[in-house]
Amino acid sequence: MAMSLSSLYLSFFAAFDVVLATSLNVTAIGAKDGNSRFECWELDAPFVSSSQTGIAGSQTTFLGDVSNITYNVIPAGFDSGVHNTPRNQWIVVLNGLAVITLPDNSSVTVATTPGEMGLLFATDTPEVSREGHGNYFPGVSETIFLQVPTKDGAIPEHKVLNDDGPCTPNKYTALRGWATG
Ligand SMILES: *[C@@H]1O[C@H](CO)[C@@H](O)[C@H](O)[C@H]1NC(C)=O
Ligand SMILES: *[C@@H]1O[C@H](CO)[C@@H](O)[C@H](O)[C@H]1NC(C)=O
Ligand SMILES: *[C@@H]1O[C@H](CO)[C@@H](O)[C@H](O)[C@H]1NC(C)=O
Repeated sequence: MAMSLSSLYLSFFAAFDVVLATSLNVTAIGAKDGNSRFECWELDAPFVSSSQTGIAGSQTTFLGDVSNITYNVIPAGFDSGVHNTPRNQWIVVLNGLAVITLPDNSSVTVATTPGEMGLLFATDTPEVSREGHGNYFPGVSETIFLQVPTKDGAIPEHKVLNDDGPCTPNKYTALRGWATG
């Protein structure tokens, strides 16, 4: 008659599955009319309840196939200059501070730090952006980030939430109550 702890646990997650239909939002470095710009994307792939052993019942979203992965350490004070992303790729900031600038629009910069907002997608390749974007690293420590090009240069399916600015902090909060509830 007593419910086992594990079935209580499962029904807890099942109850929350019903109310959760959310997707991950990421800031993208995109381009329009040959100029790089920031965009906020809502990925089409939804969060689903994981069935993977060890994280079963947790929220997971598939980010798609990737090609390889590079770990980069940039010294404090470094300035990349203006450049294009060489390929469509995920950027994951692990440490430090990277500021992304736009050569034609000094009114907006994106400061990336580790954490949920430290996942970005760069797609301003030379094919779509004349100059690309700039990066400088004003933090006190080195900045570490991963570059993860997608398989065959694919761009994840997405809806554009903002076509002229990065995702704001409130675009990352949907699962927070669930995580702490
Ligand atoms: C990583 O993948 C990208 C995109 O497919 C490719 O251009 C690059 O050469 C690969 N890097 C290595 C070291 O294989
Ligand atoms: C510069 O970027 C801001 C924020 O993304 C945008 O509102 C503005 O329209 C942009 N200005 C130009 C000239 O593109
Ligand atoms: C992403 O943005 C959409 C639209 O504002 C929102 O419904 C969704 O909950 C957001 N996702 C997260 C994880 O916060």
